[in-house]
Amino acid sequence: MKTRITEMFGIQHPIIQGGMHFVGFAELAAAVSNAGGLGIITGLTQRTPELLAAEIKRCREMTDKPFGVNLTFLPVMTAPDYPGYIKAIIDGGVKAVETAGNNPQKWLPALHEAGVKVIHKCTSVRHSLKAESIGCDAVSVDGFECGGHPGEDDIPNFILLPRAADELKIPFVASGGMADGRSLVAALALGAEGINMGTRFIATQEAPVHDNVKAAIVAASELDTRLVMRPLRNTERVLRNAAVDRLLEKEKSLGANLKFEDIMAEVAGVYPKIMLDGTMEAGAWSCGMVAGLIHDIPTCQQLIDRIMAEADQIIRQRLAGFLAA
Ligand SMILES: Cc1cc2nc3c(=O)[nH]c(=O)nc-3n(C[C@H](O)[C@H](O)[C@H](O)COP(=O)(O)O)c2cc1C
Repeated sequence: MKTRITEMFGIQHPIIQGGMHFVGFAELAAAVSNAGGLGIITGLTQRTPELLAAEIKRCREMTDKPFGVNLTFLPVMTAPDYPGYIKAIIDGGVKAVETAGNNPQKWLPALHEAGVKVIHKCTSVRHSLKAESIGCDAVSVDGFECGGHPGEDDIPNFILLPRAADELKIPFVASGGMADGRSLVAALALGAEGINMGTRFIATQEAPVHDNVKAAIVAASELDTRLVMRPLRNTERVLRNAAVDRLLEKEKSLGANLKFEDIMAEVAGVYPKIMLDGTMEAGAWSCGMVAGLIHDIPTCQQLIDRIMAEADQIIRQRLAGFLAA
């Protein structure tokens, strides 16, 4: 399939694996890229720029296809060494960067100079337009369904994507709730030129996370996610567990007085315990409503081949059949 997204990133299929903390290691990024999508290493999961450089090198040893790096700009007091991470990306010859969080404008000249294409993840039309105006090459439009941070507008993709299509000139992918060929065809119909998947890619053979995490996603239904940290305007969609119930109880009882310190135990530093050790009740971890559509743990190649075959079948047979009738 050819879209502006496949052309821009030099990939066979319009399928991107979104950056995921303590999931987006070289193994997953390489597997997605080898299957014809765009795999993404999560920059900040590597504690230093040197470690990111090593991870990029490791990924390059596992694939000769294009892959990218996610850089998340966090609203924190002491910023990570972003210049160092940017240098590691450029020196590592990476040609795709997925930015998320705060405005990436400051970093665009250096990235563009090095021939890097930048896709910024946005949860609203206004942020997408801003990304376009500052010179981002593409946008990942992340609907309310998504795992991770859906923003504060709560607009689901059935509205958000056509709204983005009405306003944007640069190409965009649909992110949040994407799982299969039906998702891809629907995203294309709504104006996107590809899809970005997070949760679906965790439940794959190559995702280097504990089997408990994959099993939890397969076991979950679309009813099992919760929104946390809304009172802090840092809303995150997570899989419900005992820690999340505790966190929500604190949010309820403390109301407007809630501070980040009150919920540290449930959210700070929990990713390695969950993703690597499989201690599933250790805290709150991002997961999309799309868990309800995930029933197996295929290889990335099987997953992407299946999505593309299903999309082809839907377009050529189901949809064309309606027209013929
Ligand atoms: C476990 C997990 C961790 C994530 N970590 C990040 C991150 O560090 N940076 C980021 O930009 N997005 C992160 N995301 C969001 C994904 O990149 C992607 O936008 C989102 O998962 C799409 O929604 P879906 O899960 O419905 O496919 C994360 C998502 C999950 C599920």
